[in-house]
Amino acid sequence: MQITHLLATALAALPLASAIPLSGAAHGPTPSLPRRTIAGVSVVDTPLIRAAQQYMRDHSNDAVYNHVMRTWLFGTLMVANNATLRALVDPEVQAVSLLLHDLGFDRTPGSKLVSEDKRFEVDGAIAARDFIRDHREGRGWEERRVQLVWDAIALHTEQKYALFKEPDVETVSRGIFMDFSGPDRGVTKEEYQKVADVFPQDTLRDSVKDVFIWLCRSKPVTTYDTFMQPFGERFVANYSAVGSRTVDFVLGPQA
Ligand SMILES: *[C@@H]1O[C@H](CO)[C@@H](O)[C@H](O)[C@H]1NC(C)=O
Ligand SMILES: *[C@@H]1O[C@H](CO)[C@@H](O)[C@H](O)[C@H]1NC(C)=O
Repeated sequence: MQITHLLATALAALPLASAIPLSGAAHGPTPSLPRRTIAGVSVVDTPLIRAAQQYMRDHSNDAVYNHVMRTWLFGTLMVANNATLRALVDPEVQAVSLLLHDLGFDRTPGSKLVSEDKRFEVDGAIAARDFIRDHREGRGWEERRVQLVWDAIALHTEQKYALFKEPDVETVSRGIFMDFSGPDRGVTKEEYQKVADVFPQDTLRDSVKDVFIWLCRSKPVTTYDTFMQPFGERFVANYSAVGSRTVDFVLGPQA
């Protein structure tokens, strides 16, 4: 009881939740990390990030790989161009999240990363968490950072939640959407185009469409009640008659 009382007193003394920075501000941005430049964008360069990039390369086709590379660079630019976000976002958490966010798209036959019963975002989040814990550098990560990566990947398509979570989670989702919606949030047209020149966007829509069709066919239950549902319904209505490629691309509520 004494402890309960102490706890209550301590909690009462805390500032309102909204006044507590949501990000991993305790570890915070790490300006001392080495950097390299990709497509004109200065990114942090750690062994874990390099390994994440390679891991994604090993589990993706060219279209998906180019997509995750662009989203990493767009997310990085978004933070670089915004002083508030620069102070809050953990660049290594952001990089690993963006680089690994589509592990649930791994279509290698027999892939251990893809479940039969979970949304691709959850498969990706679990695979990224395993990747971090299995990696020498990642094993030293505080659990909080691993959790941020998990949340950022699991929620990236659900902006109703992602945009109101930690800045790390928010900017992962926004960086990914920017690949579909164009330059935004302080990222200039020139910066955006430079990234798209190095990692071409031309196959993005067809490749994402193919992945969605694969998901709607192989584990339809995971697509119900998500942004993929209307897509799956059109696919089902149309599949036998006209074939998969005729299904319209759908992403986001306004599509
Ligand atoms: C910077 O980011 C914060 C947090 O997302 C946002 O509220 C603010 O509008 C951004 N500033 C600019 C200039 O984009
Ligand atoms: C099938 O797809 C075609 C081409 O997108 C479209 O015009 C047609 O309305 C679709 N049919 C159904 C039943 O959804």
